Amino acid sequence: MNTVTVRASRQYDILIGKGLLPRLGTLAGKLGKARKVCVVSETTVFPLYGQVVTDSLAAAGFCVVSYVFPAGEERKNAQTYLQLLNFLAENRLTRSDLIVALGGGVTGDLAGFAAATYLRGIRFIQVPTTLLAAVDSSVGGKTAIDLPSGKNLAGAFCQPSMVLCDIDTLNTLPAEVFRDGCAEVIKYGILYDPVLFSHLEQKGLCFDREYVITRCVELKRDVVMEDEFDTGARMKLNLGHTIGHGVEAKSNFTLSHGKSVSIGIAIVSRACRCVDTHRILAILQQFGLPISTEESAEDILFYALSDKKRSADQVSLILPNAIGDCSIVPTPIDQLESFIQAGL
Ligand code: NAD
Ligand code: GLY
Repeated sequence: MNTVTVRASRQYDILIGKGLLPRLGTLAGKLGKARKVCVVSETTVFPLYGQVVTDSLAAAGFCVVSYVFPAGEERKNAQTYLQLLNFLAENRLTRSDLIVALGGGVTGDLAGFAAATYLRGIRFIQVPTTLLAAVDSSVGGKTAIDLPSGKNLAGAFCQPSMVLCDIDTLNTLPAEVFRDGCAEVIKYGILYDPVLFSHLEQKGLCFDREYVITRCVELKRDVVMEDEFDTGARMKLNLGHTIGHGVEAKSNFTLSHGKSVSIGIAIVSRACRCVDTHRILAILQQFGLPISTEESAEDILFYALSDKKRSADQVSLILPNAIGDCSIVPTPIDQLESFIQAGL
C-alpha cells in the first residue's frame, strides 16, 4: 500500500493499494469520535461493494446508514442533493459523524458537496471506484452538483478527511469507463512527468495500476498544495478540457468526457505545434482514445464558451510545449476559432 499525504486547509492521507475496502472501518475509527456513518453510493456500485464497506464500518463499531441513488451524471443534481441532506437530517447525523462517498466522480462530487454544507460541514471519506475518481476527483476537495444551466455550477471546496483507493474495485469497471479515466492519466504525464508518460507508452492499457495511480495522486497533491483554490497552477489540470468541453457539449454529452478530453488534448497539441505532438497523438490512439472530430471550429468554440471557466474576453488555454512542460496561455476569444481550426 502507498500513502500520499495532502497538507491543504485540511491534512489527510490518500491510501492506495489492493484489498483495502475491508480495512475502511478500522481506518475511519482513527479519524475521531464519529459514531454514525452515512455511506453514499449509487445503484451500480453499491451492489458490488456496499456490503464489504458497511460490514467493515459496523465491525469497527459505527452505526451505519446508506443512501443509494440511481447511477449517472444526470442524478448529480439539486434534487438528489436535497434528498441526501434530508436523509442525513432524518437519520440525525451530527457534526462529529461521517459521510463515506463510495463510487466514481459523480458520487464523490455529490456526497462531498453534501458533506461541505450539511450542518455547515461534516467530515467525509472518499472511496473512489473509477480510475478518474482515483486519480482526479477524489483528491483536492472540489465538490459540486450540476444545474440545468451547466455542469458543476454549484459547489464548494471541501477537503476529505481520508481517501481510500482500493485498486481491486477497478476490476469491475466497464472497459470504456476505464479507458475514459486513462485520458486523465495521460494528461498528468503530458503536464508534469516524462517518466510516467514513458511508462504508459511502454505498457499501454496494462500499466502498473498501483504505481500510476500513486504517481498521478502525488502530482495532483503537489498542485493542490500549491493552489488549493484554483487561481493559478491548478488551472493546468484543465489541459484539453476547455476545447474538450466544447466537443462534449456539442455532442449533447453523448461523447464521453474522457474521449472529449482526448480530442481536446489532440487539438491543442497540434494547434500550438508542441514538439512532442506525434508522441501525444500516438499514446492517445494506443489507449483507444479519439484524436479528431467532425465538428467545426465555430461549433466547438460556441459550446466551449458556455464553460464557466471563461473570464471576460479571454480564456486560459493550457498548452503543451513538450512532454512534462505545459504553459498557461491567456488567449483572446477572438483568436480562439482560428486556434481551434489550426488543431483540427
Ligand atoms: P461516474 O461516477 O458516473 O462513474 C462512471 C460509471 O462507472 C458509472 O456508470 C458508474 O456506475 C460506474 N462505476 C463506478 N465504479 C464502478 C466499478 N468499480 N465497477 C463498475 N462500475 C462502476 O463517473 P466518473 O467518470 O467516475 O466521474 C465523472 C464525474 O466526476 C463528473 O461528474 C465530473 O464532473 C466529476 N469530476 C470531478 C472532479 C473534481 O475535482 N471534483 C474532477 C474530475 C471529474
Ligand atoms: N479536476 C480539476 C481540479 O481538481 O482542479
